[in-house]
Amino acid sequence: MDLMMRWKTSRYVHVLDVPEATDRKVAFNSLTLQAFDIEPAEARLLERFKQPDGLPEAPGDEARDLVASRLIVAADDDAPGQAAARLNAVRQAEFRRGAGRYRTLRLSLTERCNMACGYCFQQKLYPDQQPRMSMELLESTVEWFVDQAEGQEVSVQYFGGEPLMEWNLIVRSHELLAEAETAGKISGFHQSITTNGTLMKPSRAKWLVERDFGVTFSFDGPPEINDQQRTFKNGRGTYEKAAEGLRNWVAAGGESGILMTASSFNVGKLKEIVRWFVEESGLEPQIIGLNSPQPISTGWETGGEELARTVFDIWQYVEARGITFHGPGAYMPGNLQLEKPHSDNCVSGRPSQSGGDAWPVYVSADGRRSLCLVHHRDARVEVTPEQPMKQAGLNWHKSHATIKDCDSCIASQLCGGPCTLERILWNDRLNPDRCGFMQEMARLVLVHD
Ligand SMILES: C[S@@+](CC[C@H](N)C(=O)[O-])C[C@H]1O[C@@H](n2cnc3c(N)ncnc32)[C@H](O)[C@@H]1O
Ligand code: SF4
Ligand code: SF4
Repeated sequence: MDLMMRWKTSRYVHVLDVPEATDRKVAFNSLTLQAFDIEPAEARLLERFKQPDGLPEAPGDEARDLVASRLIVAADDDAPGQAAARLNAVRQAEFRRGAGRYRTLRLSLTERCNMACGYCFQQKLYPDQQPRMSMELLESTVEWFVDQAEGQEVSVQYFGGEPLMEWNLIVRSHELLAEAETAGKISGFHQSITTNGTLMKPSRAKWLVERDFGVTFSFDGPPEINDQQRTFKNGRGTYEKAAEGLRNWVAAGGESGILMTASSFNVGKLKEIVRWFVEESGLEPQIIGLNSPQPISTGWETGGEELARTVFDIWQYVEARGITFHGPGAYMPGNLQLEKPHSDNCVSGRPSQSGGDAWPVYVSADGRRSLCLVHHRDARVEVTPEQPMKQAGLNWHKSHATIKDCDSCIASQLCGGPCTLERILWNDRLNPDRCGFMQEMARLVLVHD
């Protein structure tokens, strides 16, 4: 070791306590995504070497592992900005590989709905006029999507409003995708539906199962909770009708999948709600998902840090019972295992099934194309017909993680952010709840995995 050098604990090191363990801690390097079990004496060394300019002394033998693991580094090697640089490099490489293709299409078949959920972000965007997608628009949209995919595998999610209100469009879209696959225009396709479940008749369930659709049913809890927000337009609760739809789906051979929305109405009870679904509802869910909260002017209506602890508890509970969990942050163990940055800067985590090398696009019932899968009907996120889609995607997704606060954040390579939508909506101010959620989720995953 060069004795003239100054040495310091890397600015990217985070030392975490392990619950109920006094003899070990976790040292996490948020730049490399490597985590190490360390002893309390090593944690004290990391604390001592944490000087902004480093220490002139060479680390002794007791710090050999910490130097080898790059937890203690030469001060000259500890310049700020490395986290953003790594994330940007990964993004650029992925963009080059994806060459600017959209591979996930969220298709809003109608902005109309047979229900009137109190919190629905989508219905709030269409308070008066609620367009339905025409057959011509559906056909031209699917044809465009297939053409630009250039032989890749694609994924189409039918959305709304209530997508099952437009059954003919689902059938036609399926035909077009199957024809495109036969003609070799795409190498395969996956279709999914997010539904309120109330219109899932046995005949439809059978047709969808035979064509390998994935279907998730939105519920917020047992009837007394679900029916506070998820109501028909006349105010009547929807639980029983939606549960009947899910039972029809399962009877046809479909997998029981429930998608919940955390809101101020149910956030405190989420763990109990999940337990009820698993143990008492009789719906026997095999998949339980939780929607990412939508940004409001102050952050998330549900808070962030506390929500992470709730989501983590739910995740552990369902996995212990062999049930698959989908929820915000659930991708983190995979990234940590591969030491691979999460480069998709999307509010709901992974926007494309293929990872970060292809983009998602949202097409509304009246044909607006939005680069954000959530927010639309807003010029800031839409691509106009004159704009080249590829360039628009590049501009949206290459938005660089240049916010200074992110550099030494524990979640800098894990949160996927800052989210482009939030940067636009809030002039680059970070969403404190999203950050609180991602940071706490990273800590929980690191000390438990
Ligand atoms: C907009 S709906 C459209 C599909 C279908 N009608 C349904 O309810 O599943 C899709 C999902 O968004 C969720 N959602 C609606 N408003 C939300 C909000 N403000 N925050 C988070 N998720 C929301 C719904 O609960 C549902 O799971
Ligand atoms: S059923 Fe879906 S689209 Fe309809 S109001 Fe509820 S959340 Fe919104
Ligand atoms: S959690 Fe927040 S502060 Fe941390 S990297 Fe993500 S956007 Fe930046």
